[in-house]
Amino acid sequence: MENTPHSAAKAPAKVTLEEGKDYWYCTCGLSANQPFCDGSHKGSGFAPQKFTAEKSGDAWLCQCKQTKNAPYCDGSHKGL
Ligand code: FES
Repeated sequence: MENTPHSAAKAPAKVTLEEGKDYWYCTCGLSANQPFCDGSHKGSGFAPQKFTAEKSGDAWLCQCKQTKNAPYCDGSHKGL
């Protein structure tokens, strides 16, 4: 089992979210569809994080997987 997530990128992904819609955020970092889950976590010990968009519009989702405020970027990638 892998405990450290793979860093998919050292910068957040800008996405457009729709209020009230559910999304599955990739926590393992292995998805080819960053920042969202594509099923690649299977066997990694990680599971995607479901979240519901609170408002429609652009959001910056973490791809380095070190954020303390997942799925949102909190600037932690700057220290990598
Ligand atoms: S991309 Fe992970 S904290 Fe910014």
